[in-house]
Amino acid sequence: MNGNFLQQHGKKLAALATAALLLASQVAYSEAILEGQRMHPVQGKEGMVVTSHFLATQSAQEVLKNGGNAIDAAVTAAFSLAVTQPRSGNIGGGGFMLISSEEKDTVVSIDYREKAPAKATVDMFLDKEGNADSNVSRYSHLATGVPGTVAGLAMALEQYGTISLKEAIAPAIKLAQDGFIVTPRFSDGLKKKEKLLKRWPSSKKIFYKADGSYYEPGDLFVQKDLAATLSRIAEHGIKEFYQGKTAELLVAEMAKHGGLISMEDMKNYAPVFRAPVHGTYRGYHIYSMSPPSSGGTHVVQILNILEGYPISEYGHNSAQTIHLMAEAMKLAYADRSQYLGDGDFVNVPLKVLTSKKYAASLREKINPTKATASATIAPGKILPYESNETTHFSIVDKFGNAVSNTYTINFSYGSGIVVEGAGFLLNNEMDDFSAKPGVPNAYGLLGGEANKIEPNKRMLSSMSPTIVKKEGKNFLVTGSPGGSRIITTTLQVIMNVIDHGLNIQSSVAASRIHHQWLPDQLRVEEGLSPDTVKILGEMGHTVIKKPAMGAIQSIMVKDGMMYGGADPRRSTGLAAGL
Ligand code: DON
Repeated sequence: MNGNFLQQHGKKLAALATAALLLASQVAYSEAILEGQRMHPVQGKEGMVVTSHFLATQSAQEVLKNGGNAIDAAVTAAFSLAVTQPRSGNIGGGGFMLISSEEKDTVVSIDYREKAPAKATVDMFLDKEGNADSNVSRYSHLATGVPGTVAGLAMALEQYGTISLKEAIAPAIKLAQDGFIVTPRFSDGLKKKEKLLKRWPSSKKIFYKADGSYYEPGDLFVQKDLAATLSRIAEHGIKEFYQGKTAELLVAEMAKHGGLISMEDMKNYAPVFRAPVHGTYRGYHIYSMSPPSSGGTHVVQILNILEGYPISEYGHNSAQTIHLMAEAMKLAYADRSQYLGDGDFVNVPLKVLTSKKYAASLREKINPTKATASATIAPGKILPYESNETTHFSIVDKFGNAVSNTYTINFSYGSGIVVEGAGFLLNNEMDDFSAKPGVPNAYGLLGGEANKIEPNKRMLSSMSPTIVKKEGKNFLVTGSPGGSRIITTTLQVIMNVIDHGLNIQSSVAASRIHHQWLPDQLRVEEGLSPDTVKILGEMGHTVIKKPAMGAIQSIMVKDGMMYGGADPRRSTGLAAGL
């Protein structure tokens, strides 16, 4: 029968097979063309995790696989980053987390930013001559704000998670206890910061071998003290960190070296639920971090200004588009220095700053073809200095939850000080305050009165974890490190997606620009066309090419699919779908 069948239909079958082969090769061919035409994001249907370290991505992905939600995965990612990426992942710092629920149609934020100790004073960083001493505000025990990370993560888990703190921390404990293989980035970071970290025996002991030599790529890096600290937290909860042995070790470290944080400060630390800043951009709903971050406010403000222009028509990274972006950025950063601070202490005019009406009045100040000199925008005011290292991750689950989290110890490796016996680095976030409002600091920069040091106050931040929703559905989850560049980096990924229709990987990878009003420079990454740079120069911009900005780990959700884009600016970053 088979023979008959073949005899009867052999020719047809052969023709069909040839056609199928031809079709397959054409599909492969056209896919090959597409592969070459654009960068492809990682895809997932049941979940997506994007972090700056592959081991943290894998830990969080495992949580999702086991049925956990995005909040569970976020807490695991954050603790895992504290082990695998100590330059910014942390339990000795603070940050902000945005959580979106499609089911409840809500976006909430958790503010777990560090606080000034109760004994902090307005002039604590001034020397005898009354000059701001950045060495003290950055590299001493006085630089450290009361850490918020452990309490913030626990709060997220308690309110929205489904697993216990113990379960969420377990992968991090294993990574610290058993160790992980050193990557080139890890090794390079420690080599670069040798001077900072070897100043303190407690830090030297953790980050360098017993003979003082370096950990090289391929070596195993074990952190016994950190494993013990994490195990204590897993066993006894956040009370351990804020009132138990870890708190005692931290306070002893402070007492020994003239720091201010007391047991009382630790006990009194509490994270806060805050309403995120909300705005709209071309029909999309933008949710981002409210004060004490300036991030969300200015992302929304700049988008409001730019909404008045046909940006997509002007084109991605064209001179016209970049000019308008730079002009809008200048206006927003000028406002930042004046108005932004901890909303629990100062009155931040949020409503006005994020309103369409105010944006329209700012738009009128913009010359569409000529750069406005920063000095004429608001003479004599400059931003507080921020720089170096922070980390962002984005997670989406199949239940309609999304988490956008940015946390930091401020500089790369924070203050450089490891708490003796506890194995974690202390932040130097106190430097984000204006050490001397109204007067230039050691870098010749000015800060605002709204951001002066006060006891128990949170220092101003630029961190902008952001979630964009459309018709109640999570659409874009994004955020970045990069100090003052965080706001503009986040802005550009939003615009790359909404205005320019780039997919998430291309949006994340595309060359970025930045203007922060003062200094009056349009900072660009490599990859911008020299023709564009020339036109921008003719428009009156001082264009400066500098190193890459930010590391924006992002997710886009569209038509039931999740697309992850890890920033190629971080060699260890990884997007992983389910
Ligand atoms: O909170 C802030 O805005 C700064 N402490 C963040 C520092 C930062 O992003 C460094 N990262 N690259």
